[in-house]
Amino acid sequence: MTQLFSKSTARAHTNIALVKYWGKADSDLKLPITDSLSLTLDGFYTDTSVVFDDCLTADEVTLNSHRLSLDEASRVHQFLDVVREWSHLTTFARVQSVNHVPTSAGLASSASAFAALAGSASRAAGLNLSRKDLSRLARRGSGSASRSIYGGFVQWQKGNDETSYAFPVEEDVTWPISMVALIVDANQKKVSSTLGMQTSVASSPFYAQWPTIVAKDLEEIKPAILNHDLTHVGQIMEANAMRMHALTLSAAPSFTYFNGETIRAMNLVQSLRQTGVECYFTLDAGPNLKILCESENETTVVAALASEFGADHVLATRPGKGLTYLSD
Ligand code: PMV
Repeated sequence: MTQLFSKSTARAHTNIALVKYWGKADSDLKLPITDSLSLTLDGFYTDTSVVFDDCLTADEVTLNSHRLSLDEASRVHQFLDVVREWSHLTTFARVQSVNHVPTSAGLASSASAFAALAGSASRAAGLNLSRKDLSRLARRGSGSASRSIYGGFVQWQKGNDETSYAFPVEEDVTWPISMVALIVDANQKKVSSTLGMQTSVASSPFYAQWPTIVAKDLEEIKPAILNHDLTHVGQIMEANAMRMHALTLSAAPSFTYFNGETIRAMNLVQSLRQTGVECYFTLDAGPNLKILCESENETTVVAALASEFGADHVLATRPGKGLTYLSD
């Protein structure tokens, strides 16, 4: 008998970690070795529609109007298998996803993609999940996606499959802050975060220190966020990013996500600080910087970065919202 399913569309924003997730305790279930903490951004988001359809003989995935091959969409197929397992369905799905991240941004983030897919696919499958369970589900697509279910400052806790999910630290951010993305290279990352984490955990002699560093950073950054204390938030964020990247440099074989322009950009942020413009950087599994400042300094920071790297390489964003459902 043919079952009738309705289509569901969800929007999720990307997030940038201030205290990084770098290392998996379980790679299948995507359980992290440590907690992490991020800020969801308003500028970059993904809209995804899903409908399950008895007529399909395989999942169909379209990204920005381009139909993905089975290989290109393998992570989406695996994710839909989890949704089918949770909803006891065997039906295949049609997925249409649009990334509202400027294509040149080099920020194509799996966080907004899998958070939007978790929302739309679970609802289309007839599941009515709590935000906690949406976060657990999004985690199965990409660890950092667990945090994009919520807006503002978000913590994702380690644990087991039942207990590892994200929760808000400050969801409606009243602090006027900006995160400015500086794109020094828009190409796809050469070492995936999965492989980068694996290599760091397996071979960096400093990895044993990482859980202690993260625990201390989290303990100190949360009150600083609630006090809107940019100096402390920025210092902790910048040091945490450098320590994460030190794990890649100290791995065997050694690797880095930095390029020459990354170092030039870090120096620029430091010299801006010396001239009294308070701003701090972080960076993920790629060469691009994200720079945190008070919104009153956003124009100055953007202008300084634009004059060195070009205006089309700089994108200013503000704190964003969590997962929302859009009407079809
Ligand atoms: O969620 P993944 O597997 O794309 O890993 C994200 C890793 C970092 O972006 C470097 C850090 C983080 O916490 O987002």
